[in-house]
Amino acid sequence: MGKVILTGDRPTGKLHLGHYVGSLRQRVELQNSGLFEKIFIMIADAQALTDNADNPEKVRQNIIEVALDYLSCGIDPTKSNIFIQSMVPELTELAFYYMNLVTVARLERNPTVKSEIVMREFGKSIPVGFYTYPISQASDITAFRATTVPAGDDQEPMVEQTREIVHKFNSIYGPVLVEPEILLPTNSACKRLPGTDGKAKMSKSLGNCIYLSDSSADLRKKVMSMYTDPNHIRIEDPGCIEGNCVFTYLDAFSCCEHFAEFLPEYSSLDELKAHYQRGGLGDVKVKKFLYAVLEQMLEPIRQRRKEYEQDIEGVYEILKKGCDVARAEAAETLNLVRRAMKINYFEDSELIRQQSEMYRAK
Ligand code: TRP
Repeated sequence: MGKVILTGDRPTGKLHLGHYVGSLRQRVELQNSGLFEKIFIMIADAQALTDNADNPEKVRQNIIEVALDYLSCGIDPTKSNIFIQSMVPELTELAFYYMNLVTVARLERNPTVKSEIVMREFGKSIPVGFYTYPISQASDITAFRATTVPAGDDQEPMVEQTREIVHKFNSIYGPVLVEPEILLPTNSACKRLPGTDGKAKMSKSLGNCIYLSDSSADLRKKVMSMYTDPNHIRIEDPGCIEGNCVFTYLDAFSCCEHFAEFLPEYSSLDELKAHYQRGGLGDVKVKKFLYAVLEQMLEPIRQRRKEYEQDIEGVYEILKKGCDVARAEAAETLNLVRRAMKINYFEDSELIRQQSEMYRAK
């Protein structure tokens, strides 16, 4: 059986560089590798609603933003199905059955959900839907019988939970579901890109993001004001590269060709780092280099976005087609699931025959 990808994002804002290196860039590579039989990329609007129930308009607006981001990064709708989660109601049904296979105590242990609850300051008022979203995510993944989930490391607990549900389901009802694996970025700077302020994570609520759709002027402004080493005051001072996010970004984005093109006095990032640590290399020079690297990467993405923005109807067509394909696939899995759980009452002619014989014989 061929390999299948399922992955996705919540449409709560435009996508940023953290999404790009954490998953998007890899998705495009995987898509073009030819190694996957089917690829599903989901805009998780129902999951976004679990903590935005009072603001469906925001979710609605961002569905198109995320779709534009996907397309402009090189997700090719002839190779990957982009779809909207809530347009595949089979996912909700599947989650409803999975809820019986997971305990409240198990949900409580999920580290990603735990930290999100703190970040959102839910206190005791956690929406049930939010609390249970790892179960819904398990149904997203398994409904497509996905083998592979390319995602950032914050999604690891979700895939782990999914695997547990698969085991439990298959051991009770028979071998129907496929066990997925997460595919993390190999470069450690890419697993969790810090914000431009040096905080642990690039996040819209912290206001420390560089968006894929930022203009060249915005990009320059953000890079030039990035957090570096606060003790590196004069150029001659030795600088620290640990926790210095300009260098973390260079770890994530730069390669030797960039040096040849934009900063030929150095042949590699290691050389640049060594000079910074010795002293004698100013932040501005490093930031200008980072800007050049990012600008070269983002310019074609920006251009493609502009083209798609001129054809929003076309983008909706792409989403509609993606939803149709996704729905057919999920429906097939649901048929298998209902049969395994013996809740396919109208299809089970043997059950109907046995029962009618029994009642006739009474
Ligand atoms: N939780 C993901 C996010 O925060 C979105 C998502 C929903 C997802 N379902 C998924 C990711 C299934 C991977 C697989 O963006």
